[in-house]
Amino acid sequence: MAASTTNGTPATATANQAPPTIEEFEALRRQVVELQRVSALGVLAGSVCHELNNALTPILSYAKLGLRNPDPEFRRRAFEKIQEGAERAAAITGGVLGLARPRADRRSATDLVRLAEEVLLLTAKDLSNHRVRVDFQAEGRPHARVSPAQIQQVLLNLVINARQAMPEGGTVRVRVGLDAAGRLAELSVADTGAGIAPAVLRRIFEPFFTTKSGPDETGLGGTGLGLSVCREIVEAHRGRLRAESRVGRGTTFTLRLPACPAPAQQGAA
Ligand SMILES: Nc1ncnc2c1ncn2[C@@H]1O[C@H](COP(=O)(O)OP(=O)(O)O)[C@@H](O)[C@H]1O
Ligand SMILES: [Mg+2]
Repeated sequence: MAASTTNGTPATATANQAPPTIEEFEALRRQVVELQRVSALGVLAGSVCHELNNALTPILSYAKLGLRNPDPEFRRRAFEKIQEGAERAAAITGGVLGLARPRADRRSATDLVRLAEEVLLLTAKDLSNHRVRVDFQAEGRPHARVSPAQIQQVLLNLVINARQAMPEGGTVRVRVGLDAAGRLAELSVADTGAGIAPAVLRRIFEPFFTTKSGPDETGLGGTGLGLSVCREIVEAHRGRLRAESRVGRGTTFTLRLPACPAPAQQGAA
């Protein structure tokens, strides 16, 4: 008969190796969060270039047309198109810069609707490539004191997991709002995917727990670190991250954060 442990502890020998100190352990945890951020960023690079190119194409062609055509009304419309394209390009780079900022843990009163929009803009191409439709709903303009880059990292992980749960395509529903009492900001990401069996659901936040055989063709997932990093970030913000799932119907992740007032408008009387 095969050897087995009676008390369930794995038989790894650590006799002459001191266990990590709390400081070492904390440093490792921070590194995991950091590496997970960089890997998410790397994977987005392709779709971000594509989106930027989409924004730049009309800028270039309307600039050329406007230069050639002396009609003032035509030129006015060309300028409008150029402005639209440039605003779109700025929104795209704004979203990436948030994620790319190295000291990403600085907190400020953040517009969560805008933050969610940036994540959806960055993932739009990846989602449509996988026949996933996005349904975005915002109620009001909830704000929370967060590190925008870290909360984007959380949302990005949830959106990518949702897409991976729908190999045949489907809908990802992203909602931003406030709870009934107006104290908690709520962000939810729901999919119409495979769902999670109760025995698996209990383990999804464990570091290195994964049911995926490895990264998918875009290099995402399969490390089992996504949700453990999400929970780590959310708890550092004194928030909560919950998962609810029905097998065959889909899964909803809900992130709740203490809400704060919107910062006073600059230049307002
Ligand atoms: N939206 C979802 N639908 C179904 N299962 C999910 C979903 N999100 C996470 N899971 C499950 O939780 C596990 C852990 O997720 P995660 O920590 O992001 O790691 P990874 O994506 O690398 O597997 C996944 O392997 C999967 O089994
Ligand atoms: Mg994942």
